[in-house]
Amino acid sequence: MTSVPQPQSQSQPEPEVKSGIRAAVRAVPAYPFVPTDAPIKLDQNENPYDFPAELKAEATRRMLERPWNRYPDLHADTVRAAIARYESWDEAGVVVTPGSNVLIKLLTELAGIGQTVLVTDPTFSVYTLEASLLGAKLVEVSLNADFSLPVPELSAALEREQPGVFCIAQPHAPTGHLDTRADVEALVQVAERCGWITVIDEAYYQYGGHDYRELVRRSPGTLSLRTFSKAWGLAGTRLGYLLASRDVAENAQKLVSAFNITVLGQAVAEVALEHPEYMQRRVEEGIRERERVLAALKDHPTCQAIPSRSNFFLLRTPDADAAYRHFLQSGIVVRRQDKLHLLQGCLRVAVGTPAENDAFIAAAQALR
Ligand SMILES: Cc1ncc(COP(=O)(O)O)c(C=O)c1O
Repeated sequence: MTSVPQPQSQSQPEPEVKSGIRAAVRAVPAYPFVPTDAPIKLDQNENPYDFPAELKAEATRRMLERPWNRYPDLHADTVRAAIARYESWDEAGVVVTPGSNVLIKLLTELAGIGQTVLVTDPTFSVYTLEASLLGAKLVEVSLNADFSLPVPELSAALEREQPGVFCIAQPHAPTGHLDTRADVEALVQVAERCGWITVIDEAYYQYGGHDYRELVRRSPGTLSLRTFSKAWGLAGTRLGYLLASRDVAENAQKLVSAFNITVLGQAVAEVALEHPEYMQRRVEEGIRERERVLAALKDHPTCQAIPSRSNFFLLRTPDADAAYRHFLQSGIVVRRQDKLHLLQGCLRVAVGTPAENDAFIAAAQALR
């Protein structure tokens, strides 16, 4: 009897590829996220509500109307036009990709490779991940203890280092802190003078009540990064964009793979932008709920819920591992951040629906 070759068991070690793979890529650990199942999902800063059913139906109808055998727009042109109208921006200054994570990679390719990526510590992990993968010099400057931007230290780094990409998120991730406009403007001024590309990541700007478009408009090396994943509740359809000067956008566009927004993405973005009122209502509820949860935990005997201007907040606990497991046993998954600089004991918690937040508050009250 001939034996059928069996697929190699996953537990058997494979020989390592000897050549080709860059050492920088091999040295970087895989994206630090382990999907965890729980009835209440507060670990990814998502919108707790799905895209409204009637808008889903309309987007699907438009998607079905379009031919699937044909490539979509070369550079998401109809989506870029719709975003330009919504944002009152020059269409030539808009670049669209499947999620703003893709734009972070692309901006690192645009101005980071062989140069510098300057970030705060802690910061959104994708900035540092892409800098490491693409071989940029990574310069990290500690946030102040109250999570505000250290303006003198960042200004000194902007003056000292070879220019590249300077990334700041407003509101900041993962702290939820919103800096003063004066501090952000002061840093942008130094960055512009020294020739940096400044990325103001506004993934959560709707929850913070600040909008840096006007600063970006008068600062040719500065851009705003935006996403449909948070306030718009469309993380599953992967849509992000940047607003920049024509020069930055045209060069960034060269790095975008052709035809990268599918007919679904195209239809969803168009429909969403025609109905911003659904998004605004949800943002208002998100802000109300955030303040309600923070107020409910204000006098907690052992944990500190840290004020935030985003759709998530940090909960500083005496023991992050025990607290994480406690929430999981209550059916709630949150995100550990306690290994990060300045964030000892911290869990990151997204704001959910009122019922989810009630469950979170009850579980948090039981935590000692
Ligand atoms: C600060 C920040 N920027 C960008 C992103 C990425 O969003 P997207 O879903 O558009 O890739 C996130 C996602 O969590 C984020 O927190």
